Parts: sequence; structure tokens; C-alpha cells
Amino acid sequence: MTEDRQIQFRVHADWQPDAATFNQLLELFEQTAFWAKNRRSEDWRIAIANSKPIVTVWDHDRLIGFARATSDGIFRATIWDVVIHSDYQGAGLGRKLVETVLMHPHVNSVERVYLMTTHQQKFYERIGFQPNSTTTMVLHNQPISQAHLPMAIESHRSTLKGC
Ligand SMILES: CC(C)(COP(=O)(O)OP(=O)(O)OC[C@H]1O[C@@H](n2cnc3c(N)ncnc32)[C@H](O)[C@@H]1OP(=O)(O)O)[C@@H](O)C(=O)NCCC(=O)NCCS
Repeated sequence: MTEDRQIQFRVHADWQPDAATFNQLLELFEQTAFWAKNRRSEDWRIAIANSKPIVTVWDHDRLIGFARATSDGIFRATIWDVVIHSDYQGAGLGRKLVETVLMHPHVNSVERVYLMTTHQQKFYERIGFQPNSTTTMVLHNQPISQAHLPMAIESHRSTLKGC
């Protein structure tokens, strides 16, 4: 299956995949990403809408790779959800995918680019990332119920005195 490959990287600032493409995305993650198994499609749409850039990799009209970043544009950015379809791994596409995210202006101008990985430290080290055990903490968030929001905002307002 190597001869007729035509690999293309696409960079999206405001990606709005059609239904067929969106299904390909869900299948790609089902196949390659243990951490994304129980994600709902409507939540994926929220993540996509709030990520910039998104980079997709295509073989003709087959979606074979994906990565996204979030960034404040100057201080910090984080790369998320890097995958290459298993049929295409080990051919340099993952490296090019991450480098394409890193080259995007929303990412390449920030001081530090973070990512979280369970098993792929060696892959990211090849690209230039370093282990960073000292600064990372995590909160397993419970979404704030809408019913509590007005009260939370109100009490926050009453304690705001400027800074
Ligand atoms: C991780 C992943 C994106 C890598 O993509 P890939 O296309 O196979 O990687 P590449 O071929 O571009 O490899 C780039 C370099 O990293 C090395 N590398 C890749 N995976 C590696 C691994 N698991 N261990 C050690 N080195 C690895 C390659 O040998 C290559 O080295 P080189 O620059 O000396 O040639 C891909 O394997 C994947 O999608 N895995 C499943 C999903 C996943 O785990 N994503 C990461 C979540 S944080």
C-alpha cells in the first residue's frame, strides 16, 4: 500500500469538519488513542472549536493523522491528541505532524510548549521535548453545575477589589 500514497498535511485555524470527516476522526481515535475511548462526539466538537491550530494528515481522502494545540499566543501552549493511524506509523509522519503544530504562529512564538504523554516520551524526545517532572500538577475537574454559577460569580464579584 505504499506506492499510491499521497500524504498531505492540512493546517486549520477554524476547522469545521463535515459529517463524513468527523466520523473518520472518531474512528481514527477509536483505533489509535486509548485515552480518548469514552469521549462523546459533541464534546469533540467543543474541543475542536477551542483549539488552534488543528493539523490533519490525509492520504488522498483518508484521514490518517491528527493533532491540536491550545495556546495563549505568548507565554504557554499545550499540544494534545497526537495520533498517526497504525498503518502509517514509523514513517516520519508523527514527527512532521508535531513539527507542523510547532511551526504555527500561535505556538511558535510562546515561551514554553507543554504536552502530556503516558508512553511516548522517546518519540517526543526525538523532536526536542524534555522530561519535566517538576512543574506538572493535575485537577480532575468536576464540571460546575449551571445552578451554582450565578452564586459563584456573584460572590466572586463581591470580593473583587482590583489588583
Ligand atoms: C506516537 C506517534 C504519533 C508517532 O508517530 P510515528 O509516525 O510513528 O512517528 P515517526 O515515524 O515520525 O517517529 C519520529 C521519531 O521518533 C521515533 N519514535 C517513534 N515512536 C517511538 C517510540 N514509541 N519509541 C521510541 N522512538 C520512537 C522514531 O524512531 C523516529 O526517530 P528518528 O527521528 O530517529 O527517525 C504514533 O506512534 C501514534 O499515533 N501512536 C498512537 C497514539 C499515541 O500514543 N499518540 C501520542 C499520545 S501522547
